[in-house]
Amino acid sequence: GKYRVVSTKSMPGTRWIKLLTDNDCRLEICTEKKTILSVDDILALIGDHCHGVIGQLTEDWGEVLFSALKRAGGTAFSNMAVGYNNVDVDAANRNGIAIGNTPGVLTETTAELAASLSVAAARRIVEADQFMRAGLYDGWLPHLFVGNLLKGQTVGVIGAGRIGSAYARMMIEGFKMNLIYFDLYQSTRLEKFVTAYGQFLKANGEQPVTWKRASSMEEVLREADVISLHPVLDKTTYHLINPERLAMMKKEAVLVNASRGPVIDEVALVEHLRANPMFRVGLDVFEDEPYMKPGLAEMKNAVVVPHIASASKWTREGMATLAALNVLGKIKGYPVWGNPNAVEPFLDEKAAPPP
Ligand code: GLV
Ligand code: GLV
Repeated sequence: GKYRVVSTKSMPGTRWIKLLTDNDCRLEICTEKKTILSVDDILALIGDHCHGVIGQLTEDWGEVLFSALKRAGGTAFSNMAVGYNNVDVDAANRNGIAIGNTPGVLTETTAELAASLSVAAARRIVEADQFMRAGLYDGWLPHLFVGNLLKGQTVGVIGAGRIGSAYARMMIEGFKMNLIYFDLYQSTRLEKFVTAYGQFLKANGEQPVTWKRASSMEEVLREADVISLHPVLDKTTYHLINPERLAMMKKEAVLVNASRGPVIDEVALVEHLRANPMFRVGLDVFEDEPYMKPGLAEMKNAVVVPHIASASKWTREGMATLAALNVLGKIKGYPVWGNPNAVEPFLDEKAAPPP
């Protein structure tokens, strides 16, 4: 192959490999056993001759790596993720490196995990599983693991982009929940969906579901029973969920995060979980991955999973394929999928600002 492409990790499937090797690329997949590569590890991988890199969200892609990639003759980088808070877009621009990400293929998979965490937290599934395995079940009891009924409750979505909207639809249609959402952009598609589904329910003699676009995030926190966070992580969303905002939430609310860990002040969250045993969380992401803040692992009212929201076979193979297409496309002069040197808007519907 004419072009040297490096993947910092082995990725699922073989299509992405074939795409590159069938199209003039010599692919090198890093075999390093440690999970998270350091900047030095990646510098060594790039070497002095490299046209493009497929990297991971655990890696710190900033000036050091992008300037090294430029010196090595590279022009392309793709994150194997939709989120790219680990990528310094300005540094990439300065060094003439195009950036790609992998949106779309992970929308439903991620939304399904957020929905699963919502149900697991509301119905105390993990706690009950642990109880069962510990041999503590000695007969049915009226009080045993009583949780929340989702039907008729309100689901709150913060960030109604692709994933947030897909999650909302699942919770509304699956559990007949009402919707309240907060986003800078209006999601008319989501609103129309809830209206149409509400009419369907009504025509069948059932209580219709309703929607409301909140004028502030606080309104969602105060009113919703289940709240799922779907913003991008940037300076404006760091510690979006802080002690003041935790205090606004209902005492028996469920909070779910399958976006990025630092969106929640995790130390404050642990304290809140301790003080409010009926408050429950479902977390896929953590502030200092792979670590949890002290105390979180002991909280029975927390369901925690290791950043697996996009982990379905179809999606991970799709992410790998898109990442390879991004890099190949730039090298060969095709359009780059995702975000070529630009931060795309959070939503595709550019409607009015919040009411
Ligand atoms: C995973 O977290 C992603 O951003 O794709
Ligand atoms: C990411 O895909 C989002 O916009 O939710």
